[in-house]
Amino acid sequence: MPLSKQPALAEHSTLKDAPRDGPVIAVDGPAASGKGSIARALAEHLRLPHMDTGLLYRAVALNLWRWGGDPGNEFEALRACDDLGFDPLDQELRSEPVSKIASMISAYPSVRAALLKRQQDFARQPGGAVLDGRDIGTVIAPDADVKLFVTASPEVRAERRLKELEGRGMHVHYEEVLSDIRSRDARDSGRAVAPLRAASDALLLDTSEMALDRATAEARRLVEKRLAHAHS
Ligand code: CDP
Ligand code: CDP
Repeated sequence: MPLSKQPALAEHSTLKDAPRDGPVIAVDGPAASGKGSIARALAEHLRLPHMDTGLLYRAVALNLWRWGGDPGNEFEALRACDDLGFDPLDQELRSEPVSKIASMISAYPSVRAALLKRQQDFARQPGGAVLDGRDIGTVIAPDADVKLFVTASPEVRAERRLKELEGRGMHVHYEEVLSDIRSRDARDSGRAVAPLRAASDALLLDTSEMALDRATAEARRLVEKRLAHAHS
C-alpha cells in the first residue's frame, strides 16, 4: 500500500467501540524499565492475555536486517511488515542491532499504522488484556481501564540490560549499553508520531530503587486500587 494510503492513526476507533467484559491494562515505559516483566506478572495475576508490542517492532527490524534492507528507508521498512510471522523465543529478536533498528523503524508513521490493527484487536478482545510498549496508553488503548508508566534512571536501566545480556553469554561494556539506552530514549521520545510519553491519566511507577518483586507488587497494588475505584 502506498504510504499516502496508510490510514492515519487518529482515524482508528477507540476501545469504547468494543464490547468489553474485562479490564484493559496499558503498561508503557522506556527500555529496561521493567515494563515487560511487570506486564507479564499482572497478566498472570489477573489471568489476562498479554502482548509485548515491542516484539512486533523487533520482528519488523529482524526481517529487514535479514534481507539486508535499509532502516533509513521507510518503504523498505514498510515492506518488512508484510506477513509478519515470528518466533517470540528467537534470541535474535532481542539482540542489540535489532533493538537499534526497531527503534529506528518505529519512527515511521507507515510502519506504526501497519502494526496498529493487530495491537488494537488484541486490546479489544472480550475478557480484557494487558499490553506493554511505548504508546499503549496514548494511541493503542487510550480508553484503557488502567495505565501504568514505568520508569527508572538510565543508569539503573543500563545495569539491568547489561546483566541480561551477560546472562545470555554476550560480552558488552556498561558504557556501550548506557549510550545505547540514551540514544533509544532520545529517538523514542523525540519522534513525531506516538512518542514515548506518559498519558495524562497514567499512574507513574519509578522502579529505580525497587527490585523486580517489589516493583511487581507495587504495580499490582496500583492496578487493584484503580480497578476497585472504577467499580465503586
Ligand atoms: O524491551 P525494550 O524496552 O528494550 O524494547 P521493546 O519494548 O522490545 O521495543 C523495541 C523498540 O520498539 C523500542 O525502542 C521502540 O522504538 C519500539 N516500540 C514502539 O515504538 N512502540 C511500542 N509500542 C513498542 C516498541
Ligand atoms: O520490558 P522492559 O525492557 O522495560 O524491561 P524488562 O525486560 O521487564 O526488564 C529488564 C531487566 O531488568 C530484566 O532482566 C528484569 O528482570 C530486570 N529488572 C530488575 O532487575 N528490576 C526491576 N525493578 C525491573 C526489571
